[in-house]
Amino acid sequence: MLTIYQSLGGRVQAALGRAFPKDTYSSKESGYILDPQLVSASKPEFGDFQINGALQLTKILKKPPRDIANAIVEELIRDETFLEICELPEIAGPGFINITLKPQCLIRELQERINDNRLGVPSIKYALEGQSNPPVIIDFSSPNIAKEMHVGHLRSTIIGDCLARVFEFRGHQVLRLNHVGDWGTQFGMLITHLKQVAPEALSTVNAINLGDLVKFYREAKQLFDEDKNFQRNSREEVVKLQNGDPLSLKAWRLLCNQSREEFQKIYDRLHIHLNERGESFYNPYLKEVIESLNESGLLVIDDGAKCVFLEGILGKDGLPLPVIVQKRDGGFNYATTDLAAIRYRFNNSPKGDGACRLIYVTDAGQANHFAGVFQIAERANWIPKGARVEHVPFGLVQGEDGKKLKTRSGETVRLRDLLDEAINRAEADLRRRLSDEGRIETEEFIAHVSTTVGIAAIKYADLSQNRVSNYQFSFDRMLSLQGNTAPYLLYALVRIAGLARKGGNLNAAVNELLFIEAQEWELIRELLKFDEVIVNLEEELLPNRLCNYLFELSQTFNRFYDQVPILKANEPYRNCRLVLCRLTADTLKQGMTLLGIPTLERM
Ligand code: ARG
Repeated sequence: MLTIYQSLGGRVQAALGRAFPKDTYSSKESGYILDPQLVSASKPEFGDFQINGALQLTKILKKPPRDIANAIVEELIRDETFLEICELPEIAGPGFINITLKPQCLIRELQERINDNRLGVPSIKYALEGQSNPPVIIDFSSPNIAKEMHVGHLRSTIIGDCLARVFEFRGHQVLRLNHVGDWGTQFGMLITHLKQVAPEALSTVNAINLGDLVKFYREAKQLFDEDKNFQRNSREEVVKLQNGDPLSLKAWRLLCNQSREEFQKIYDRLHIHLNERGESFYNPYLKEVIESLNESGLLVIDDGAKCVFLEGILGKDGLPLPVIVQKRDGGFNYATTDLAAIRYRFNNSPKGDGACRLIYVTDAGQANHFAGVFQIAERANWIPKGARVEHVPFGLVQGEDGKKLKTRSGETVRLRDLLDEAINRAEADLRRRLSDEGRIETEEFIAHVSTTVGIAAIKYADLSQNRVSNYQFSFDRMLSLQGNTAPYLLYALVRIAGLARKGGNLNAAVNELLFIEAQEWELIRELLKFDEVIVNLEEELLPNRLCNYLFELSQTFNRFYDQVPILKANEPYRNCRLVLCRLTADTLKQGMTLLGIPTLERM
């Protein structure tokens, strides 16, 4: 109801202005505009919108809140246009004003929704004609080469993909960047180990399979810790790699390729699309970071290391915290790479992305890292005016015991095992249900439904939590047909598809929309909230808000479906109800698509 909200906003503001003209109150700030605080109603009992400002306005207007509310209402009901769309406003409690839209206003809005394939969600427009659409960069997933992609990366992948989808749907150009950890001193030991155990890999043209890279990493690490010679070779190897030694580079590429293939298998299963641009990409730009920091006077040499001291962020010792940007031995680190990345991403020349907004999706443990990096970028003037950089942190994935997620034998859970188990359990549930219902389905159907439901459950369980908090991973909960789960939402869609199979024409043309039941109006109101949810998501970056909305919508739909006859109703009600069903299906499908979750016709 964004359009209504906007026009109502203007009306309410004007009414407030008429009730309290500028010369009737004094405000320290000249040009101060009174804020009526018009918001969507927090509960259905409050109607569609609320004006909450009266309480705060008492301070400026020096009148009791109820008097202020009364004065606003008096002016509002003098406004004919207002009364065309709204019922008489009601004052509640100490001075809240509740606004309820008239049925014909809701119907008009509904009519527009039915004919709009964007379901009311506005597409962003660039104010200036011919102005290019600057990309929004979402940096997500970003696992480390030769290491396991763990549940933290899974969270980043799922949340980042959802945000990317929302920005894309809004009409932004989105750059989905996979900032993989493909550079660093660990490659010294990996390459040294590779040269020892599989020298043939470096002499043949075809890449050879190194087997389990994670095991390979562990072996290399052990040698590094125990063997002085190996350690020396590894250090030399790092220098060789940095100097572009062809053989070292070949080994490095081999390791990266192998990891990349493993990661891609997970992305394919999750239907995630990403552009890899790893840390190594920024190597040519690292020196410039140091130079630029030096020029702007931010660089300090501390104990031989080049660093920047942060303002307002103190270390444990109470002293300003430094961010090291070049180590004593001349090496660069994670922070340097991120600084180079910010410069590159905002850079407007062909040597950059010219982005307007950078979003980093990582675990909350990296909050300090990003706070430091962003502050340095800010102070070095690398962030263009009006551009934004944001860290989108998320909490830990925990087992049902509240501890770090582990396998029964205490090892870290492999992502592919996690996905497999969700799918297997979804399959077992489905087979049980089929046999209970005496239904017979093909194996193909069973495989398709189990895969879709299993993956959907994992994604939805993650997205539906407020990302900032830790979340407890529970197969039983996420696969349940009850509660705020993917299967529950998918099932609402299956019900609607079922109506169509039973002869309901979801696309019937309706001359006049007629509704008489409370459940119908509830559903209409819920449907009309979709646009606001999506637009807010772009600001708040909280996918759980969309999940909650879709859950509300499914519940409201199910009440309507259970309590109001649809196929058995007489015309014109039958078709009008089918229209509501279709719009519910479209809204649920679009919402799920934005979450990155495919839907089903039957399950
Ligand atoms: N590779 C890092 C990790 O596994 C995440 C990188 C996030 N992106 C960034 N630009 N720092 O923790």
